[in-house]
Amino acid sequence: MAISRVLQDTIIIKPPKKSPILLRMIVLVFAMVCGVFICSVCLKQISTHSKIKIEDIQVIERPFSDNPPTQMRIPIMHFPHPETFSRAECVHNPVRYFAILSMQRSGSGWFETLLNSHVNVSSNGEIFSVLDRRRNASSIIKTLDKLYNLDWFTSASKNECSAAVGFKWMLNQGLIENHEAVVEYFNARGVSALFLLRRNLLRRMVSVLSNSYDRHAKLLNGTHKSHVHSAEEAEALSKYKPTINSTLLVADLKKMEIMAARALEYFNSTRHIVLYYEDLVKNCTKLKDVQEFLGLPYMELTSRQVKIHKGPLSDHIENWEDVNKTLAGTEYENFLKADY
Ligand SMILES: *[C@@H]1O[C@H](CO)[C@@H](O)[C@H](O)[C@H]1NC(C)=O
Ligand SMILES: *[C@@H]1O[C@H](CO)[C@@H](O)[C@H](O)[C@H]1NC(C)=O
Ligand SMILES: *[C@@H]1O[C@H](CO)[C@@H](O)[C@H](O)[C@H]1NC(C)=O
Ligand SMILES: *[C@@H]1O[C@H](CO)[C@@H](O)[C@H](O)[C@H]1NC(C)=O
Ligand SMILES: *[C@@H]1O[C@H](CO)[C@@H](O)[C@H](O)[C@H]1NC(C)=O
Ligand SMILES: *[C@@H]1O[C@H](CO)[C@@H](O)[C@H](O)[C@H]1NC(C)=O
Ligand SMILES: *[C@@H]1O[C@H](CO)[C@@H](O)[C@H](O)[C@H]1NC(C)=O
Repeated sequence: MAISRVLQDTIIIKPPKKSPILLRMIVLVFAMVCGVFICSVCLKQISTHSKIKIEDIQVIERPFSDNPPTQMRIPIMHFPHPETFSRAECVHNPVRYFAILSMQRSGSGWFETLLNSHVNVSSNGEIFSVLDRRRNASSIIKTLDKLYNLDWFTSASKNECSAAVGFKWMLNQGLIENHEAVVEYFNARGVSALFLLRRNLLRRMVSVLSNSYDRHAKLLNGTHKSHVHSAEEAEALSKYKPTINSTLLVADLKKMEIMAARALEYFNSTRHIVLYYEDLVKNCTKLKDVQEFLGLPYMELTSRQVKIHKGPLSDHIENWEDVNKTLAGTEYENFLKADY
């Protein structure tokens, strides 16, 4: 009994004796660690803050692969220092980098004129249509560096007061071949990708064939035009009805579809938005989404370009019955419908 009481006493009494000192020590150490941590965080914030103020260089150089869901929502801001001019009064305005990734005859020309109607957007066209600029990954990166540093001049350049700078890039212009280097570049430099695709690939095919025909036929008074600005010009161009090889039709549509799907897969880790030409035509709100995605002050966007092939597809394909029969019952049957 006595032993157990002593034991109990020691058990009961001893801990209160030791624990205050131990606890105090723990609390003290914890407080010190916390203090040091808070101080270091403060110092870091102060140093990055002053860095931005003093040097006006890129705020964030981190790739956002570690937590894409939140980072995907914020376009990365840049403060480039062009070699060829001074950003003057806009030197403190952030610039966003973007690239329109598309396929020929998918409305990207029209889309780009819409973007360029914004006072703060410089979308510099198909810069990689020039073979030398896309010969290998290093020539691509050199070109991109120059463009995003605002040292690239086209009729679209807004120079010092650009708030978003970019260009359009066709999937078959070295983009798919060099996708690894490009994705790495986009993630490291914070370039946002705008995919512009066409839902109705049969309409795209008609446009591709007609445009390629006009390259030689030059229907508009002997000049070839890919895009037109009046209803008369559009009508003149749409008079030509291509004949579509129905033997290859399904395979060709499949090829286009696979190319777009592959690009989306490759660029999945980048900050991106997927736009469909058909949706942009029908729904003005989509252009609001685009401006929000690019972090731009909202503006009404306009284009003078006129759609070339209007109305039902049956009016635009020479061998319509053949095409209609070929696609009936396939996964591409929807493409035959007028409103798709
Ligand atoms: C890349 O292409 C350029 C020409 O466009 C050439 O001068 C350069 O040597 C090439 N670099 C490599 C790594 O192949
Ligand atoms: C947009 O451009 C206008 C006119 O050049 C300029 O005053 C304004 O600061 C720019 N806005 C941004 C966000 O860069
Ligand atoms: C072709 O040229 C004629 C005369 O120069 C002009 O009246 C007509 O509008 C032009 N047509 C188109 C489609 O540009
Ligand atoms: C369609 O393409 C196939 C394969 O290239 C060819 O054999 C066939 O002659 C073409 N048909 C027409 C009508 O041009
Ligand atoms: C992209 O990634 C997301 C999530 O990681 C996935 O749900 C989606 O299917 C992927 N898309 C493509 C086209 O690979
Ligand atoms: C138009 O686009 C907006 C934004 O993407 C969407 O919320 C809305 O449902 C669309 N409207 C129609 C009629 O499709
Ligand atoms: C296409 O073919 C279907 C029969 O498969 C027919 O019912 C339909 O009217 C045709 N469409 C046109 C626009 O000719």
